[in-house]
Amino acid sequence: MAHRFRGKIVVVTGASSGIGRAAAHEFARQGATLVLAARSHDSLEAAAAECRALGAEAVAIPTDVADEHAVRDLVATTTTRFGRIDVFVGNAALFVYGLFEQTPTEAFKRVVDTNLYGHLHAITALLPHWKQRGEGTYVLVGSIQSLLSAPYQSAYVTSKHAALGLVDVLGDEFAGTGIRFAALLPSTIDTPIYQNGANYTGKTSHPLPPTVSVERAGRAVVRTALHPKRYRFVGR
Ligand SMILES: NC(=O)c1ccc[n+]([C@@H]2O[C@H](COP(=O)([O-])OP(=O)(O)OC[C@H]3O[C@@H](n4cnc5c(N)ncnc54)[C@H](OP(=O)(O)O)[C@@H]3O)[C@@H](O)[C@H]2O)c1
Repeated sequence: MAHRFRGKIVVVTGASSGIGRAAAHEFARQGATLVLAARSHDSLEAAAAECRALGAEAVAIPTDVADEHAVRDLVATTTTRFGRIDVFVGNAALFVYGLFEQTPTEAFKRVVDTNLYGHLHAITALLPHWKQRGEGTYVLVGSIQSLLSAPYQSAYVTSKHAALGLVDVLGDEFAGTGIRFAALLPSTIDTPIYQNGANYTGKTSHPLPPTVSVERAGRAVVRTALHPKRYRFVGR
């Protein structure tokens, strides 16, 4: 792939770490102009600086995707500054470990607020803009857990199933238009998500092998944006 995103405006949420940060690097190599979002200011600025070092224009806009108003501002600020959004990668997510009965309701809701409603907030803000332009691509970074169950992960599995359901329905409703919805469903990627998530089990958590490199997952995000299809898998 060589500069396939030159002149394209790409927003990546959860770009301060892991798959989102690797995807931002790959979009930068492909010539995209990037708007990076996550909550933590410093690591997001560092990710934007890495993209600029790769030759891309990149800005950081600290955003909590669970906050509807903040996501609306992210979309509005981007369209005002750059004129449009070609691709929006909904990648931000939280993880929580624990049996259902160990998981506090507030922690469960926080995961759903981020991993499901984060997408709802973004898509609701994007649709008027994309309908006016007649095009736009939404890439959901889901999970193999969007399709499968996993004990100790009730909040995450619930949120990932629901987000895929939302994007599936929108894919049907906008079929045949220039507005496309695609899901990347990774298996186990070696990222900090397993350490970042709250853990109510009393045990240490690690990714289940075999793991896939974060760079490969980042390239898969870019491929999904380039060739949107309903489901794309990365890893076993
Ligand atoms: N790693 C895996 O094995 C794996 C497997 C399947 C799917 N996935 C999916 O891949 C995506 C990326 O995960 P990752 O493994 O790269 O995890 P990660 O390294 O922990 O990155 C998660 C990103 O989401 C951001 N984030 C979390 N809550 C947010 C919020 N409320 N608002 C805005 N940003 C928020 C984090 O930044 P801040 O904390 O700064 O906000 C961070 O940039 C997720 O959708 C995850 O479910 C991962």
